[in-house]
Amino acid sequence: MPGKLSKVAIIGANGKVGRLIIEKLKEDRKHFDVPLAIVRNKEQVDYFKNEVKIDASLTSIEHSSAKELANALKGCDAVIFTAGAGGTSIERIFTVDLDGCVKTVEACESVGIKRLIVVSAVKAEHRDFWWNIQGLRNYYIAKRAADHDVRQSKLDYTIVQPGWLKSGEPTGKLQPLEKFEEKAEGSYAIERADVASFIIQALLHPEKTARKTIELANGNQPIDEFIHALK
Ligand SMILES: NC(=O)c1ccc[n+]([C@@H]2O[C@H](COP(=O)([O-])OP(=O)(O)OC[C@H]3O[C@@H](n4cnc5c(N)ncnc54)[C@H](OP(=O)(O)O)[C@@H]3O)[C@@H](O)[C@H]2O)c1
Repeated sequence: MPGKLSKVAIIGANGKVGRLIIEKLKEDRKHFDVPLAIVRNKEQVDYFKNEVKIDASLTSIEHSSAKELANALKGCDAVIFTAGAGGTSIERIFTVDLDGCVKTVEACESVGIKRLIVVSAVKAEHRDFWWNIQGLRNYYIAKRAADHDVRQSKLDYTIVQPGWLKSGEPTGKLQPLEKFEEKAEGSYAIERADVASFIIQALLHPEKTARKTIELANGNQPIDEFIHALK
């Protein structure tokens, strides 16, 4: 962790995971500067500036060029990509989940931001796992391709691959996927609040998390132990 406070931009700040990450960044003023919310309409900018009291930029990843995105991110030390099209429109899956992430990589590289955390999806690499999941095939094709692009970069990336997201209370505990019984796909669930906590810890521990793809599900290991056990 650098000596100065880290300025973190969140692409997808208005989302459910994005908002939880922002809360946690705001709470930890020892390590983090006021974060920057990257959002896609003026009401969201006003909300983050006036109510959440953080910086905000109206930069739709769908409609902005990589250069415009780079201008918005300039001066940040780390970027979190947690945007998602959240639907079945193939066009939006292409422009948000896939190209939005690719443009984020290009933007980070062009302004010298090394640290990028991307929220992907559980077992994105395993086509056999998702090919027949109703309604998720196109999404997973995009996520897998986006992950590949991130890995090709020279960035200190962390690709976080959470299981099925829930919006309950945080558990504070995770479990490596290999510790689940085979065919236990349904149990790859995780609270969004635990994903957010993991991301904050990943920012604080690049030595354990940079240039890695890390699958996440709730389990029985406290998050700090889970991070310290990462190889
Ligand atoms: N649901 C699951 O079980 C699951 C599992 C694994 C991974 N994931 C991934 O986890 C991530 C976070 O999930 P979540 O629950 O927080 O999703 P979410 O609540 O739908 O948040 C996604 C955010 O992306 C924003 N966004 C969409 N298009 C954008 C654009 N053109 N420019 C800027 N922002 C844009 C949305 O903006 P608006 O607020 O304006 O709509 C929304 O705030 C997503 O990448 C998702 O694919 C989900």
